[in-house]
Amino acid sequence: MNVKTIRQDFPILRTGIIYFDNAASSLTPEPVLEKMMEFYHEYRANVERGVHRLSQKAGEEYANARSKVADLIHVKPEEVIMTKNTTEGINTVASGLAWQKGDRVVVTNIEHHSNLIVWLRLKKRYGVDVEVVRANSEGIFDVADFERAIDDRTKLVTVTHASNVLGAITPVAEIAAIAHERDALMLVDGAQSVPHIPLDVREIGCDFLAFSGHKMCGPTGIGVLYMREDLLDEVEPLCIGGGTIKDVGLDYYQLAQGPHRFEAGTPPIAEAIGLGAAVDYLQGIGMDAIRAHEARLIMKMYNEMVAIPKVTVYGPEPQRRVGILSFNIEGLNPHEVALALDVTAKIMIRSGAHCTLPLMKDVIRHPAGTVRASTYLYNTGEEVDKFLEGISELSASLT
Ligand SMILES: Cc1ncc(COP(=O)(O)O)c(C=O)c1O
Repeated sequence: MNVKTIRQDFPILRTGIIYFDNAASSLTPEPVLEKMMEFYHEYRANVERGVHRLSQKAGEEYANARSKVADLIHVKPEEVIMTKNTTEGINTVASGLAWQKGDRVVVTNIEHHSNLIVWLRLKKRYGVDVEVVRANSEGIFDVADFERAIDDRTKLVTVTHASNVLGAITPVAEIAAIAHERDALMLVDGAQSVPHIPLDVREIGCDFLAFSGHKMCGPTGIGVLYMREDLLDEVEPLCIGGGTIKDVGLDYYQLAQGPHRFEAGTPPIAEAIGLGAAVDYLQGIGMDAIRAHEARLIMKMYNEMVAIPKVTVYGPEPQRRVGILSFNIEGLNPHEVALALDVTAKIMIRSGAHCTLPLMKDVIRHPAGTVRASTYLYNTGEEVDKFLEGISELSASLT
C-alpha cells in the first residue's frame, strides 16, 4: 500500500492540513468525484423509469453500485438497500418491524445516539422494553452479559461493531449467535467498521447491517442497509411511493419485492454511483492493507499518547480497536484542545460528546466529552508525530 500515491488522490490534503476526523466523515478521492461527474456529464437521467439510453445507462450504473457494495460485505445485491446514511438504515429497521408491548430490544451503553434513541422511541410508542448491556470502562463487553440479557421476548439485538469514541471492536459474531439461539434478530451498526476493516456478513451472521458512504471515501447523502433476503418482505418500508410498488389501483397498492421496496422516489443517483466508485477505490487498495495500515498508526498514536503527562486516554489497548483514539488533557476543555491544534498545526480532530451522551455519562464520566483523533488510509506516521508533538506542547504549556 503506497500512502504517498494514495494521498495524491485527495485534493484537500494538498492544502497542508492533517485530517484526523475520519470517524466523523472521510475525505473523498478524485476517482469518486470523477465517477460522479461522469454521471452528470454523460448520462444524467432518472433510473428505472425510462427506456431511453441515458436512463438505461444510469440504471445500469446504479445497479453496478449496488453489486459493488454487495461484493464488499459478501451478500447478494438484492439484499443491499440504498439509504441516506447509517441513521436512516437503523430507523428503517426500527419503524419496519411489527412491535408489540412487551417485546424486548437489547442495546448497549456505548451506542451512537442514532442506535439508541430510535429504540427509546419504541419504548414510548409501543411499550417495548429496552434492555441495556454495559461495557466495562474501556468499552469491552463480557459476552455472558448478552447471554443474560437476551431472552425469548427479545425481538432484536442491536450493537455497534466499533465504538465511535473508544474505538473498541465488539464481538458481533458471538453476540449474533446468542441472539439467533433465542430467535432474536441482530442489527449491526457498521458505521465505524465497514470503512476500516474487512467485513463478511456471512461470518458475522447478522440480519441487518447499516453504514454510511461518507465515512468510506464516498459522497454524503448515501448509505446502505443490508437486510437478509427473507426479511425484505417482512419489514415495512420507512417511506413508500414511486419506485416501491408492483401494482397500484385507486384503492389498493402492492409493494415490490427486493431492495426497491425501500427506495421510494428518485434515489440519490450520483451519490450511489459515487459510493460504488468508493468501494472500487477501497477494494483496489485492499481492506486488509487498509486495516493493517491503520493498526500501525493507532498502535503508535496510543503508545506515545499514554506517555504524555496530563493526558488521559480512553478505551482498550490498540490491538482491540479501530483507528480511533479519545482522550482528554487535564485542565483543558476538549474544544480548546481541538481548536488549538487547528490554529497552531492545521490538524483536524473532533471534540465534544460525539453523539454518545450516555457513554460520556455512564462510562467516561466526563460531561464535557473527549477529544478524538481518528485515522484512515491516507494518514501517515509523520502526521501522527506532528499530532503527538502538538499534544505534548499543549500539555507542557500547562505546567
Ligand atoms: C457508530 C456510529 N453509528 C451511527 C452513526 C451515524 O452515522 P450517519 O450520521 O452517517 O447516519 C455514526 C456517525 O458518526 C457512528 O459513528
